[in-house]
Amino acid sequence: MDIFPNDDFPTRLRDGKTFVHVCQSDDVLRRKGTRVEFDPELQIAIFRVADSLHAVSNICPHNHAPMLHEGEINAADCTIACPMHGWTYSLQTGKHTSSSHSHVVVYDVFEEDGAVWCEKPEPIEVAWKW
Ligand code: FES
Repeated sequence: MDIFPNDDFPTRLRDGKTFVHVCQSDDVLRRKGTRVEFDPELQIAIFRVADSLHAVSNICPHNHAPMLHEGEINAADCTIACPMHGWTYSLQTGKHTSSSHSHVVVYDVFEEDGAVWCEKPEPIEVAWKW
């Protein structure tokens, strides 16, 4: 599922962060990521592992590919493997599982009364250049 939040999406403050109501709980499936695109450089992939939601940047740092939502979830390790070349990241810490030089940003996400609320990402300076 792809979601494109705009100013009509409800927001709320929690723990000093702005959260956006991006979808309903039923929209986040167990074996498939949900992509939330705030803008092309600010994409979040939400995953359901066991009974918990996890949210990380959808853009794989290897080739700057916005593909992690289509990656393979390893529920036992709570990781996501990029579908492009297999770089694998912890959904809890964002760290690459075998390299200390790569990570994805982890975002807060929670469910309440059947609604999924995702931390609104701050605009970033894009350092990536082809
Ligand atoms: S683009 Fe993700 S592993 Fe290469």
